[in-house]
Amino acid sequence: MITLLRNPKQIITANSSGKNYKRGKEMSDIGVLTDHSILIADGKIKSVINNSSINKAKYDKEINLENKVVLPGLVECHTHTAFAGSRAEEFKLKLKGVDYEEIAKLGGGITNTMEAVRHSSFDELINIITPRIKYFISQGITTLEIKSGYGLSFYDEIKLLQVIKELNKIFPIDIISTFLGAHTFPPEYKNDNDKYIELLTNELIPYVAEHKLAKFCDAFCESTAFTAKQTERIFKVAEENGLKLKLHTEQFNSIGGLEVALNMNAVSADHLEVLKENQIDLFFNSDTTAVLLPGVSFFLNYDYAPARKLIDANAIVALATDYNPGSSHISNFQLILSLAAIKMNMTIEEIISAVTINSAKALDVSDVSGSIEPGKNADFSIFDAVDYSEIVYNVGKNLNVMTIKNGEIIYES
Ligand code: NIG
Ligand code: FE
Repeated sequence: MITLLRNPKQIITANSSGKNYKRGKEMSDIGVLTDHSILIADGKIKSVINNSSINKAKYDKEINLENKVVLPGLVECHTHTAFAGSRAEEFKLKLKGVDYEEIAKLGGGITNTMEAVRHSSFDELINIITPRIKYFISQGITTLEIKSGYGLSFYDEIKLLQVIKELNKIFPIDIISTFLGAHTFPPEYKNDNDKYIELLTNELIPYVAEHKLAKFCDAFCESTAFTAKQTERIFKVAEENGLKLKLHTEQFNSIGGLEVALNMNAVSADHLEVLKENQIDLFFNSDTTAVLLPGVSFFLNYDYAPARKLIDANAIVALATDYNPGSSHISNFQLILSLAAIKMNMTIEEIISAVTINSAKALDVSDVSGSIEPGKNADFSIFDAVDYSEIVYNVGKNLNVMTIKNGEIIYES
């Protein structure tokens, strides 16, 4: 079965010539094609052809994309979509000047959401999360990462990971799960942190790995959560169990997390809002993707990560929403793109690389997604625009009108 995506105004290939990521200056080259069409065979990209060589008789199906812009299916590489409850009350406190870390110290924050998750059944969680995933799909997202981290007990962390696994079966996109048991210390282990780390390393991580409930192990390395030493201890066990690594680090404090992530070849280091000048060069030629989350800086009204300096220092930079109930209650992907342009001084081309090929790299799936190259999954987001800059210019407006996953239309507005 051969499908033709006929004659879009532009195709943004994000082609990386087989390298499967873009670092530094390479992020400016997004491979814009005009007068071309795309051929799909068996759910994969077969070829990108010049319109002059279209031969009508040959195709089983045609999708007319006149006056549309085609991008690779967008990859959202950092979310906490699997939460229950609401933190609107904390938001009100925040508006009165109480900051995120203070709220956490008062027993709110992650622990607040943990209570709501513990009180929700498997089916309730599926129902709560379902519309959120539909919203991501409507925005052109074809690969979505979701973390656990609001269960914080053996039973509830496994419940969350099983919910994510089930959602991956229900929805046609790829949902990639990350184990974030090391999100914070739950109240019952407040005075015995070591015991919680033992629960993570002796019981949870081996179980998660054995039952293939997550691809990644993540941790929150901060003064209100896990130290660099504790993070390293958890990561060593995760690595031994075959999980790949990601780290929340340098969000509020720089306490050695980044160095652990880089030394252990984490797939990504996420946040980096308080990255120090002398840490920027650590990303030069590093294979660890810097995942930046401007929604957090906007929502909490504090520093933005130094995107410009990282790109100028030859880093591999990706962008994501960090969608969660406390620090970035934002699931609008287009808004994140615009924030990256306006607040972090990234160019539109760099932003597109950051949410396609580089965010695929941050999930270790860029060999099969993130760019329009023959052999990769036929995943596309189709925008109602005649130039790709419209996607970033239309702040917070969803211009995606069609989402295609493995060659099939899964959303159409
Ligand atoms: O990425 N920082 C830790 N985790 C989330 C926030 C989670 C929450 O507040 O519920 C983040 O910012
Ligand atoms: Fe996060």
